[in-house]
Amino acid sequence: MCGIVGYIGREQAAPILLEGLSRLEYRGYDSAGVAVFDAGTNTLAVHKAKGRIQVLSDQLHGGADLNSTVGVGHTRWATHGAPSDVNSHPQVSRSGRIAVVHNGIIENYAELKSFLRTKGVPFRSETDTEVVAQLIEHFYEGDLLAAVGKALHRVRGAYALGILCADCPEQLIAVRKDSPLILGRGEGCNFIASDVTAILRHTRRVSYMEDGELAVLTRDGIRCYNHLMQPVEKAAVTIDWEIGAAEKDGYEHFMFKEIMEQPQALRRCLSPRIREGEVVFEDVSLSGDYIKNLRRVCVVACGSSYHVGMAGKYHLERLTRIPVEVALSSEFRYMDPIVDQNTLIIVISQSGETLDTLAALREARRLGGHILSIVNVVGSSIARESDQVLYTWAGPEIAVATTKAYTTQLALLSLLALWLGRRLGTVPDQDYRQMIAAFQELPDRMEEVLSRRDDIQYFASNYFNHGSIFFIGRGLDYALGLEGSLKLKEISYIHSEAYASGELKHGTISLIEDGTLVVALSTCGRLFAKAMSNVAEVKSRGANVLALTVESHREEMARTADAVMAIPELHELLLPCLGVVPLQLFAYYVALMRGCDIDKPRNLAKSVTVE
Ligand code: AGP
Repeated sequence: MCGIVGYIGREQAAPILLEGLSRLEYRGYDSAGVAVFDAGTNTLAVHKAKGRIQVLSDQLHGGADLNSTVGVGHTRWATHGAPSDVNSHPQVSRSGRIAVVHNGIIENYAELKSFLRTKGVPFRSETDTEVVAQLIEHFYEGDLLAAVGKALHRVRGAYALGILCADCPEQLIAVRKDSPLILGRGEGCNFIASDVTAILRHTRRVSYMEDGELAVLTRDGIRCYNHLMQPVEKAAVTIDWEIGAAEKDGYEHFMFKEIMEQPQALRRCLSPRIREGEVVFEDVSLSGDYIKNLRRVCVVACGSSYHVGMAGKYHLERLTRIPVEVALSSEFRYMDPIVDQNTLIIVISQSGETLDTLAALREARRLGGHILSIVNVVGSSIARESDQVLYTWAGPEIAVATTKAYTTQLALLSLLALWLGRRLGTVPDQDYRQMIAAFQELPDRMEEVLSRRDDIQYFASNYFNHGSIFFIGRGLDYALGLEGSLKLKEISYIHSEAYASGELKHGTISLIEDGTLVVALSTCGRLFAKAMSNVAEVKSRGANVLALTVESHREEMARTADAVMAIPELHELLLPCLGVVPLQLFAYYVALMRGCDIDKPRNLAKSVTVE
């Protein structure tokens, strides 16, 4: 996620901005910048650089080079436009008189950019943010707040904005919609920040902006308005966190924070790609002929990204009727793969730097495959070496155990399958509409699941001392079990295994004995009867069964299983996106109770850049 800091007061602004940005480094970024008002020249001094904040700070001698008492700063997590100096924030308007820092995604930036180009506005960067700066200037006639209001009336998307104008340096403007932004209240100074960490050294009195609100900050106060430009009073609260906790927004671990962020991450990932009931991929250009001539899809990935492929195989084959193979990256190169120009290679990677996957991508390209990657880190090696890239826009994922990247990857792969099926004519209109509705419903249903996390904590308290745990399921539930098992293994160090339910009787069932914990996954309605017989099968051998099913099957499952986790009803293909959340929470709480290092598990790295 990007980070924003703003200051207006009587002290030098640049050192405060740079120190505040350094407090936001944990959010992940690829470039940083500041803009301050230079009273000597009556202009904005803008300095920004790709790379670490230290690079920028060294250039500015810690901010000593900039003589100003008002400014904004930014750490950029790239979404539109690869990491570079010119794509860094602050982004400025044509005249250089208006500077903007932004966290979020402007969904209709392309349309606005075209409109401004017809007015002769030149663009320097590839960012969506520059469009906001140019649009504000387009409407600016001396009243900055009015110009901001007019511009935002045209903007669609998620944004937290800090705005500075050389014509009115005695104020800063802040705007919040779907991306968090707080107001800090000091003595003779005021602040804006993405989270409290950035300004905790200067003030503990903050107000949280609500969606649609605007704020005008001066040295002596803050005036707030709602989206109708009506004044609103904002209560101030006193922060009692220490900085370390605040980096995680008060959560104990990054993993838990990222589990809780999933509904917001899914909205960022999906809503710009569903417009007026149609899937819209501005970032993918596969011709109709290419799609029509597709004969095979091969998904290549590692770990949880591989599990996304295992689930995505069902989506792709169901919706496109094209055969799909899912390969472990580390195996792909050595299996003498069959790839040609009619093979679509889908490469999945959160980090975009996994060496096994990068090597597999290069091999597939050498064989003539067309590479489409689904990646979270913008401008990463895998993204740069692909023919097409779909970014998940999940925001930086700090915990080694992936959660929000997994769910956004899976949702995006499923959306791609729907988009391909629509073009191939293999998805009936009614099915298409039902899936679109389900994608739009998914984040809200996930919030319902998260609201019942205490139930999962209770189950974890019953099972955290087990020595070996089995996850069983059929079809999509088997793919889901693979991810549930890995989550548990990698952070709690309990041995666990995912198994296709129907396959148990061919050997592994000999391991089931009195008290063995079996997590039975049975979200798929049409396979529920089969799932029930597998539950009975392991129960009869002494297993303790924790079942995961949908609400409508909870009662029937409870007659046989020892405990039941239930998720809301949703389109069958999207249930794994929902069903994975109780499994993430189960792994998290078990690891917590076992006193494990949840965010940095032993022997593991967030990105495996070795073979
Ligand atoms: C998942 O929780 C693990 N951290 C690991 O399996 C990970 O998914 C795998 O290393 C692939 O990483 P990538 O998605 O960044 O390529």
